[in-house]
Amino acid sequence: MADVLAADMSTKAGVHDALFRPYTIRDLTLRNRIVMAPMTRSKSPGSVPGPDVAAYYRRRAENEVGLIVTEGTTVDHPVSSMDVDIPNFYGDALAGWRRVVEEVHAVGGAIAPQLWHVGSARRADGKVHNPDVPSASPSGYSRPGKRFGDPMTDDDIRSVVRGFADGARNAREIGFDAIEIHGAHGYLIDQFFWEALNERDDAYGGSAAARGRFAVDIVEAVRKEVGDDYPIIFRFSQWKQQDYDAKLARTPEELGAFLAPLSAAGVDAFHCSQRRFWEPEFEGSDLNLAGWTKKLTGKPSITVGSVGLTGEFISAFAGESSEAAPIDDLVARVERGEFDLVAVGRALLVDAAWARKIHEGRTDELAPFTREALATLS
Ligand SMILES: Cc1cc2nc3c(=O)[nH]c(=O)nc-3n(C[C@H](O)[C@H](O)[C@H](O)COP(=O)(O)O)c2cc1C
Repeated sequence: MADVLAADMSTKAGVHDALFRPYTIRDLTLRNRIVMAPMTRSKSPGSVPGPDVAAYYRRRAENEVGLIVTEGTTVDHPVSSMDVDIPNFYGDALAGWRRVVEEVHAVGGAIAPQLWHVGSARRADGKVHNPDVPSASPSGYSRPGKRFGDPMTDDDIRSVVRGFADGARNAREIGFDAIEIHGAHGYLIDQFFWEALNERDDAYGGSAAARGRFAVDIVEAVRKEVGDDYPIIFRFSQWKQQDYDAKLARTPEELGAFLAPLSAAGVDAFHCSQRRFWEPEFEGSDLNLAGWTKKLTGKPSITVGSVGLTGEFISAFAGESSEAAPIDDLVARVERGEFDLVAVGRALLVDAAWARKIHEGRTDELAPFTREALATLS
């Protein structure tokens, strides 16, 4: 009888085993496949992350998250940020980040900062650093057809590349386990990738390869600073905040051509941002964006998008609530090796113990997500 009970329990606990196997990227071994997705919280007054931010990340680490990717944290450049309550990744903020790393390491977690430059996606109400300095962008557009200023000069480009490289070096010195470069969602790096906002006719525009060069420069500069063994993760997306239907790559061939130079420049893992992880990327195959990325580059990939929830995150900002959803399909895909790691956003924002509950089969305790969860750092 006792044996039957034990078998039952192990089956229950073992359902999601594939998620709880260790995984190694360069010199970093993660205890499992669960990644906390980067989520801007704007709760760092003066752009310095305080003890409450450190405790917020620690709670996720002590509840079995394998790798935390921090909220976007802005590189050292006058117009890199969109809100003064978003944490910087330079100056006084570094002491705050050091405390975050110590708290996460104290409970056995791993953590990477998401290095970010918002480009022309900067708020216009003056609650930004250096409000009088014009925003940076490849061709002076904030969205397709909407011009606000001048294209970045070569000097501007060099100084942003330097900002990312310095950020990466500081990350390593402070003790972070890896870095993630934010190349997604229509922010600066993605503005260079995207034809609709990049009309340059110099080395940084005019063809898909040239539009990718800014990111390649950043990855190469970062790799030089952090050395060979330190993991560099690169986040990208097809969709843009300015256009959810935008595509950088319409075919697997185009995706392969987009990714190859980044991979060659030193990216170790790609974080492939989708709003719904189950959506196939191209016709004729079930593979999602992370699946294709792994297949085309041979590099580890991270999926994301509505894991453990019924609704996606843009609708959540508009007030739609999402119920907890089963993750069996997701786990089956990890088991098949379609992708290697799984990033979880809102489910982990609303419940610090999400990963532990999944591991222990406590699915009846999983919470829905509502917009109110954004109000606090619980
Ligand atoms: C409150 C909030 C803030 C976010 N901030 C960032 C960010 O700073 N950087 C980023 O790359 N993505 C950001 N995202 C997107 C998430 O990383 C993730 O891709 C998205 O929420 C989908 O995952 P989910 O459905 O599990 O929430 C944010 C999402 C939310 C909900």
